[in-house]
Amino acid sequence: MLNEPLRRMLQAMPKAELHIHIEGSLEPELIFEFAQRNGVSLPYASVEALRQAYAFTDLQSFLDIYYAGASVLLTEQDFYDMTAAYLARAGADNVRHTEIFFDPQTHTARGVPFETVVNGIWRACQDSPVSASLIMCFLRHLSEDDALATLEQALPYREKIIGVGLDSSELGHPPEKFARAFERARALGLHLVAHAGEEGPPSYIESALDVLHVERIDHGVRCLDDPALVQRLARERMALTVCPLSNIKLRVFDVMGSHSLRTLLDAGLAATVNSDDPAYFGGYVNDNYLAAFEALPLDASHARQLAVNSFEAAFLAPAQKRAFLDEVERFFAAAA
Ligand code: ADE
Ligand code: ZN
Repeated sequence: MLNEPLRRMLQAMPKAELHIHIEGSLEPELIFEFAQRNGVSLPYASVEALRQAYAFTDLQSFLDIYYAGASVLLTEQDFYDMTAAYLARAGADNVRHTEIFFDPQTHTARGVPFETVVNGIWRACQDSPVSASLIMCFLRHLSEDDALATLEQALPYREKIIGVGLDSSELGHPPEKFARAFERARALGLHLVAHAGEEGPPSYIESALDVLHVERIDHGVRCLDDPALVQRLARERMALTVCPLSNIKLRVFDVMGSHSLRTLLDAGLAATVNSDDPAYFGGYVNDNYLAAFEALPLDASHARQLAVNSFEAAFLAPAQKRAFLDEVERFFAAAA
C-alpha cells in the first residue's frame, strides 16, 4: 500500500540488482536502431508494432520474442550500447551494484564471437559508476555438452566473469541435466546460480541446491508448494531473486495482489526484488518495487529488509558488502 513517503523511499534507497538478463534490457527503440545500422530486417513494421507483440502467455512465449530481439546484436558496440543503457537506467534507480546475466550461446550460435559479446558488455561495466559483475548463463534447452563447450570458450575471459547461471525453458530441463557443467564451473572457482521454481516444481529448487550446489536461486517462488523446502531455504538463508513484474507478465501469478513476496519474507526467506527482463516486462527495478508495494501489504520495514537482502546476497568482497550495507543503514536511519 503505497503512500508518497514510501514511494520516495523505494526509489531513493540504495539497492543491488541480482537478476537482470542484459538481453532483456534491450528496448524496442534500440532493437530498431541496431537492426538499421547492422542491416538486419525485422518482422515488425515499427517500434509500436514490436511492443504490441509483447503479450505473453507463459515463459516460452516470451523466450521466442526475446531471442528474436537479441538477433540484432552483432558488434561489440551493440553489446556496449545495450549495457551502457541498462547501467544508466539502473543508476537512476539508485542501484549501487548489479550482477548482470548474459547468454553467450544466443550469440555464438549466430556466428557472433564470444569475445565480441563479453568485451562489449564488460567495457560498458568498466565505464559505469555503478558497480557491476557478469554472470554467464547456460541455455537449458540446449545440451550439457554445448554448455561445457561454452564454459571452455569463456576460459580466456575468466577474470571478467564472476559466476555461471542457468536460464531459458525450465520445464523438462531439470538442473541435474547440467551437473557436470556446474561441477566444472565450481572447480574453476566461479559462483553458481540457477533459475529454478519459476514455472518448474519445487524439486527443481532442491536439485539446484543439492546437485548443482548453487548459492542463490533465481525466482524460486514455487518453493511455497513445499513447506519443508521453505523451512530449509529459511534455515540456510538461501537468497531468492524474485522478479514481480516478470511473474505477472509470464502468468506465474494472476495479479500482483496474489504475488507471494510478502509471504516469502514472512517465512524468513532472503527474498530480493529484481527486474529480470525490464524492456519486456514493463519496468526496471524500481518499477518492480513500486508495483509490489502498491499491491501488497508491504511497508518501510520490508523496504529496508529487501535492500539489506539485496546486498547480503551479492557476490561482493566482504569490505565492499559492508560499505554498501552501511549505506543502507545510514539511509534508513535518516529516513526514520
Ligand atoms: N531468460 C531471460 N529471462 C528469463 C526468465 N525469466 N526465465 C528463464 N530464462 C530467461
Ligand atoms: Zn531470469
